[in-house]
Amino acid sequence: MDNRLATLPDLLMCKNGIQVTTAADWIRKRRPEILELFRTHVYGREPQPLSVRFHVAEEKGYMGGKATRKKVDITFTGPYGKGVIPLLLFVPNAIETDKPAPVFLLINNRDNDYLDLDQEEQDEFWPAKAIVDRGYAAAVFHVKDVDPDEHDGFRNGVHGIFEAPGTPDAQRPSDAWGTIAAWAWGASRVMDYLDTDTDLDANRVAVVGHSRGGKTALWAGALDERFAMIVSNNSGSTGAAISRGKKGETIYHINTRFPHWFAENYKKYNDRENELPVDQHMLLSLIAPRCVYVSSATEDTWADPQSEFLSLKLAEPAYRLLSAPGLGTHSFPQPETPIHGKKLGYHLRTGEHDLKEYDWHCFMDFADKNFNY
Ligand code: GCU
Repeated sequence: MDNRLATLPDLLMCKNGIQVTTAADWIRKRRPEILELFRTHVYGREPQPLSVRFHVAEEKGYMGGKATRKKVDITFTGPYGKGVIPLLLFVPNAIETDKPAPVFLLINNRDNDYLDLDQEEQDEFWPAKAIVDRGYAAAVFHVKDVDPDEHDGFRNGVHGIFEAPGTPDAQRPSDAWGTIAAWAWGASRVMDYLDTDTDLDANRVAVVGHSRGGKTALWAGALDERFAMIVSNNSGSTGAAISRGKKGETIYHINTRFPHWFAENYKKYNDRENELPVDQHMLLSLIAPRCVYVSSATEDTWADPQSEFLSLKLAEPAYRLLSAPGLGTHSFPQPETPIHGKKLGYHLRTGEHDLKEYDWHCFMDFADKNFNY
C-alpha cells in the first residue's frame, strides 16, 4: 500500500511481544494498552466529574409540529467549582410509533452556537431539519461551553474546575489533559443526559465532529463506549489521519499552532512521528466493533484525505477480530462515491475543508444501514 507502513507500530502486538488473535485478548489486553498509550502520549488524562445534573429549561413544538425542541442545561462539578453545558435538541415527533429516536450529536466548533435556532434557519454545517426529516434527533453543544479554544495556561473552562487554581503550566503532569480531551469529556457529559431522555434511543447515538471537532469525536468514541457511531469529518492531523508520512499538517505544526490541544508529552514527537508508540489507525481501532465513519474533502490537503482513508483500512484487523468485516474495498475512492461497509464507512467530497449537507446525508445513509443491527 504505502512504504510508510513499515514504520507503524503493530496494532495487534501486545507490549509483551505476544500477538493478539482472539476477541477476548483484544478486549482484555491490547485495547486497554492502546487506550493508555493515547492518554499518556497524545490527548492526556481525563478526570471524573464529581456530579452531573440536568435541567430541561424548555420543551416545545417546532418545525411545524414535526419536532420538539428541548433546551437542556447540563451542570457538572469538580473540586474547584462547576460548569454548565447548554444542549439544544430537536426530537422528531414520531406520530406513527412510540419508538425512541436515534440521535446525531454535533460537537460544534463554529462561530454560530445554534442555541437559539428555530425552524426557519437552516445551515449546512448543522442541518437540523434535514436530520429530523430522516427520523433522527438532532443535538448540538458548543465546545466553548466546555473549554474555550485558546492557550490560557489551562485556567479557564473545565480545566480550571478540576485543577488547583494557580498551578503553573510547568507543574502540570506531562500527561495532563488538553483542550481536545476536555471537549471529548464534554461530549460524554452530554451522553450522560441523552442516556436519561426516554424520547431518545441511547443505544443509537452518533457523535459527529468536523476538523478539531472530528479529532474530538474520535477521542470521545475511544473513551466512551456508549457512543454507537463516531463520525470524523476532515479531522486530519491527530484525528483520523495517519501521522507517519502525512502530508499537510504535521505533529510539529499542530503542537506549535495549538499548544493547548494535547498533552505536553505529545510535543516530544514534533518531527519524530516514527517514535510515537501509536498512530491514528490505533485510535480508530479502539472504537471497534462500533461504527466509525471518516470523511474527507478533495481540496483539504492540510488534513490529507489519503492518510485519513489509510487509517480506516489499517484499523480493519481489530474489526475483523470482533467479527465486523470493515470497508470491504482496498482502493481510495473517487469523489462522491461513498464506501459504506459493515461498521466502517468513508467518503470523499469534492470541495474544501467544511461540513456540508451532502456529508450529513452520507452519515445518515450509513447509520440507516448500520444502526439496524
Ligand atoms: C486548523 C488546524 C487543523 C484543524 C482545523 C480546524 O487548520 O491546523 O488541525 O483541524 O484548524 O479545526 O478547522
